[in-house]
Amino acid sequence: MDYIEKAEKAFMNTYKRYPIVFEKGEGVYLYDTTGKKYLDFAAGIAVNILGYSCNEYKEALKSQIDSIIHCSNLFYNKPAIEAAEILVQKTGMHKAFLANSGTEAIEGAVKLARKYGYKKGIKNTEVIAMNNSFHGRSLGALAVTGQPKYQEIYKSVISGVQFANYNDYKSVEALVNENTCAIILEPIQGEGGIYPATKEFMQNLRKLCDLKDILLIFDEIQCGIGRTGKLFAFENYDVKPDVIVLAKGIGAGIPVGAFVANEKAAVFEPGDHGTTYGGNPLAGTAVKITFDLLDKYSIINNAEVMGNYLSEKLNELFKTSECIFDIRGKGLMQGIEFNCEVVPIIRNCMEKGLLVINAGAKVIRLVPPLIINKDNIDEMIDVLKSSF
Ligand SMILES: Cc1ncc(COP(=O)(O)O)c(C=O)c1O
Repeated sequence: MDYIEKAEKAFMNTYKRYPIVFEKGEGVYLYDTTGKKYLDFAAGIAVNILGYSCNEYKEALKSQIDSIIHCSNLFYNKPAIEAAEILVQKTGMHKAFLANSGTEAIEGAVKLARKYGYKKGIKNTEVIAMNNSFHGRSLGALAVTGQPKYQEIYKSVISGVQFANYNDYKSVEALVNENTCAIILEPIQGEGGIYPATKEFMQNLRKLCDLKDILLIFDEIQCGIGRTGKLFAFENYDVKPDVIVLAKGIGAGIPVGAFVANEKAAVFEPGDHGTTYGGNPLAGTAVKITFDLLDKYSIINNAEVMGNYLSEKLNELFKTSECIFDIRGKGLMQGIEFNCEVVPIIRNCMEKGLLVINAGAKVIRLVPPLIINKDNIDEMIDVLKSSF
């Protein structure tokens, strides 16, 4: 029996996977079990920001494995302390909580916001989230995910959330009431199809939250950590949220999530929240070394320069391709909306050795490692063009 047959027998039936079994990575390329090489513009869904050959990253993890992997949050460990310090310092926030995934970090951030409301005397706190958003699939994260196709079956156990339209300030304002404790949104909607928020929308939300004493939560799980050419996506908007949720790139491949909160929002006390694995020494090391390497090799600057080049090239492609409907995004988080379903195009790309993923039925999403260069972008454009 081959790997794919075995997988279909053993895995819960939750994914329609492409029929490729990956075995190793080098630089910005992946290799499958037949030895076929793929240029990676997916990065494990915006995770592998350092690519696959960063020896300093690997050595730091190996050496941490040799000393200690896990010890629980009943005690302290140095890597977690350093990781939390970095997150607090880089975001300019007050406190960090280390979790294991984006979804878990969202859960924690929404709990934090509801506690903030509770402390103000609100019994039935409400959160405002956005239509077309994606924040994860656990019940709490699903509750703020504005896509009916994911929520339908679970409606009876997810509540206390109202949905506004993204980039439509009036629709948010109309939902605010005395129970509202938080507004949560992605600065760039990822899974929903790569839709960036406008500056005006973000700035109006900030003013509204200040006026009504509501927490503003940014989900930067996909768009944070250099993806937009800035360390954090909020830097593009001159707007500071009260809570930032991070994951994916912060561990560069090791499962880590985090939320950081400003002084006003950091209302958790012992017993309010916890996790066995969150911030274990291996995860802490991944965060620390990732941030160190981003600085050491000016990787955010590379993301900015390459992001500009990528959007220039995509706009050239847009002008000459009748099947492209729109190009959207910021930096190295770009979406190409087609007039048709994109899965056949994605399959063609894969056949030709290019890995891209979708974001909805009609959008190809480009979220490569942040270390890509111009040649990689040119190669991607050539293959993509020939795959329509
Ligand atoms: C914006 C956003 N929020 C939350 C999540 C959930 O993160 P995870 O899959 O790590 O649980 C994702 C995952 O794609 C995401 O893109």
